[in-house]
Amino acid sequence: MTAKWVVFGVCAHVVGALASVTVYHQLHQQPLSLTTTANAASYTGAAAYDPTVLEPPPPPHPPINRQFGIQLGNGGTPGASIPQNGAFFGFSIEMSVVDQVLGKNSTLLQVPFLNLLSNLARRAGGVRIRVGGNTQETAVLVDSTQSGRVLEKDINGVSNPTQTPPLDYTRDLIYMMGNISQLVSVDWFLGIPFNDTDHFRLAVAEVGQQVLGPRLIGLQVGNEPDLYARHGHRPSEYGPFDYVGEFGELVTAMEGDEHVVNQRLLIGPNIATGDWTPEMVWNTGFVDTFSSNLAYLAVEHYPTDNCFAQFGIGTPEDPQELFPNFLNHNAGRAIVDPYRNSTVFAQEKGKRLMMFETNTASCGGFPGISDSFGAALWALDYGMQMAHSNFSGALFHVGGQNVFYNPFTPPPTNQSTFRQWTIGPVYYAALVMAEALGPSNAAQVHDLEANGGNEFTPAYTIYENGNPVRVLLFNYITDSSGVNDIIVNIALGAAAPGQVRIKRLAASSVSQKGSFLWAGQTFGSNFESDGRLQGVETIETVSCDQANGVCSVRVPAPGAALVFLSDNALSEIERGSVVTYPTTAQTRTHNTVTIDPAVLATSNGHSAMNQKGKNLGSTSKGSVSGSADMRRRYGGVFWVSVVVAGMVGPLTMGVAMVVGL
Ligand SMILES: *[C@@H]1O[C@H](CO)[C@@H](O)[C@H](O)[C@H]1NC(C)=O
Ligand SMILES: *[C@@H]1O[C@H](CO)[C@@H](O)[C@H](O)[C@H]1NC(C)=O
Ligand SMILES: *[C@@H]1O[C@H](CO)[C@@H](O)[C@H](O)[C@H]1NC(C)=O
Ligand SMILES: *[C@@H]1O[C@H](CO)[C@@H](O)[C@H](O)[C@H]1NC(C)=O
Ligand SMILES: *[C@@H]1O[C@H](CO)[C@@H](O)[C@H](O)[C@H]1NC(C)=O
Ligand SMILES: *[C@@H]1O[C@H](CO)[C@@H](O)[C@H](O)[C@H]1NC(C)=O
Repeated sequence: MTAKWVVFGVCAHVVGALASVTVYHQLHQQPLSLTTTANAASYTGAAAYDPTVLEPPPPPHPPINRQFGIQLGNGGTPGASIPQNGAFFGFSIEMSVVDQVLGKNSTLLQVPFLNLLSNLARRAGGVRIRVGGNTQETAVLVDSTQSGRVLEKDINGVSNPTQTPPLDYTRDLIYMMGNISQLVSVDWFLGIPFNDTDHFRLAVAEVGQQVLGPRLIGLQVGNEPDLYARHGHRPSEYGPFDYVGEFGELVTAMEGDEHVVNQRLLIGPNIATGDWTPEMVWNTGFVDTFSSNLAYLAVEHYPTDNCFAQFGIGTPEDPQELFPNFLNHNAGRAIVDPYRNSTVFAQEKGKRLMMFETNTASCGGFPGISDSFGAALWALDYGMQMAHSNFSGALFHVGGQNVFYNPFTPPPTNQSTFRQWTIGPVYYAALVMAEALGPSNAAQVHDLEANGGNEFTPAYTIYENGNPVRVLLFNYITDSSGVNDIIVNIALGAAAPGQVRIKRLAASSVSQKGSFLWAGQTFGSNFESDGRLQGVETIETVSCDQANGVCSVRVPAPGAALVFLSDNALSEIERGSVVTYPTTAQTRTHNTVTIDPAVLATSNGHSAMNQKGKNLGSTSKGSVSGSADMRRRYGGVFWVSVVVAGMVGPLTMGVAMVVGL
């Protein structure tokens, strides 16, 4: 297929007029045929696109109580959490895949990734991302790699059951992170290699602080140290006191390193809660000893694992049998239970506890579970449960093409010129939670134990400054007949508004893969997303019974509903720049436009919430046919090429977006 470059210059004032961005498009002369599209969307064999669809569990017998009330009052938050950051639900990106997910290097960023982040930042005020995982432990900062890439893997040096190869990386990887934060409000976590505590490699702390400045908000010390002995990385008797001792050696090493400016960014103990409990670490005096160095306390956990199928280790599991375990309120609660003492302990010590790496199952998750709509409900309920239980953030893991649980997956490298990204259920959960918490940093979450604590119909209230602002309702049951739809009567007494607004997270079944709907919009199926929501946004309005102070909301089986109790509760998550950039519209060929950095997000639906009924797929006049259509025809990859000139003063970023072949 022949292609031509449509050059398409855009000058943007990025971060207070610090930079200008030039956007170039390469468009098809002729659209791809539908046959090509169908082929492109077919299964490739990689786990990330596995076609397994499981049977949804049957509706419960005896049937659940399908109509119930929840009582909310102003002027108090009994049982509610500590105030939560809107960026609570973030991502943990395995270090070995950053050059696929973030971009190729500091001058070539992935536009879909920026869009995905921008969707969240606009709703929640920011995004928190950890770059790390098992691969951080043996990573080495090098001046350059042989291939010229920011990362190079030594596949001969595999040492973990998760087959993570040692990595060489260059400074440019950190510049890439810095350049992303120039465009979208992203704060980063990195990890200090901990495989060799006699020879610490502190370069990641030095360069991370130097390049990212205040955008670097934490440095992990050790990844899952409670599994070190099991994996042969430490002697078999290695215990919590040994970890704490090594942590101390690191603190000493950092204090002796003049290039490590900030000594207060450390994060520990990062245990998998496999072979140690958090209490075992707290009982060593760890937190008091290193209080001034600790930015966060953290744990990591996956509720189960698929290591047998992936690596022949452990117990074989049948996804169909496990599926129902994810589809109820106890699922998230059970993961949180072992940490309830720890969240109390953290508060006593004036620290914040994070779930630093989590997802449906370690060793890649399960086909049909991790990539299903059920996983969206699971991740959202689990995220809210962590917020309710006084965690201060949770990072859902992103692996490569060979995992089932990715919140988002770039196309395989050799297919990146004709395929787009695949957005998984966990990303939808992130989006909904960003809206549930909003950007106030005052959101307090309360699990209402609704419907007599029924496990299929959890409900949460979100308070701000003592007053309920939003309610999040779930229905885990799949039943297309409507019989298992629930009606929730939200009693607000004299404070009941005349109406409430509702956004729904919807799919036909908990088994559905892809094309989930959030407020009527979607990121489509496999290989279909450029990171922008597509379709018309639908926000329902429900009138309340003001005489009785009750607003009744129906939640279909399955689904979740976010209820906005006031206009402000909705408008606060609509703030931020609404300039959109139709990356797929051929009609915009004028040369220069002044845009906001948020232009890279082009979150159509979000920007146009107040323009109900319009086609929000594209904001470009004359391309109202919708970018979904354009996207199908011109589907491709988008890169932002960032060329930065000068250490101080104006930065010039050239942004190249390449569409299609
Ligand atoms: C990034 O990669 C592109 C394409 O390979 C290359 O042209 C550019 O020089 C690279 N940038 C850096 C900073 O290495
Ligand atoms: C730690 O990792 C580095 C880099 O991969 C490697 O060179 C070194 O031998 C490792 N040290 C130990 C003690 O495993
Ligand atoms: C962006 O990347 C360039 C190298 O391409 C680097 O010089 C610059 O410092 C980076 N900016 C930030 C904020 O990291
Ligand atoms: C939590 O604390 C209670 C009371 O001190 C104790 O009984 C319980 O065992 C602790 N839980 C864990 C998981 O250690
Ligand atoms: C969370 O912390 C708040 C404030 O300390 C407390 O009132 C609440 O009971 C805690 N919630 C849970 C579930 O521990
Ligand atoms: C991409 O690479 C994979 C693995 O090497 C191969 O199976 C697949 O056929 C390739 N696809 C294309 C379109 O080249």
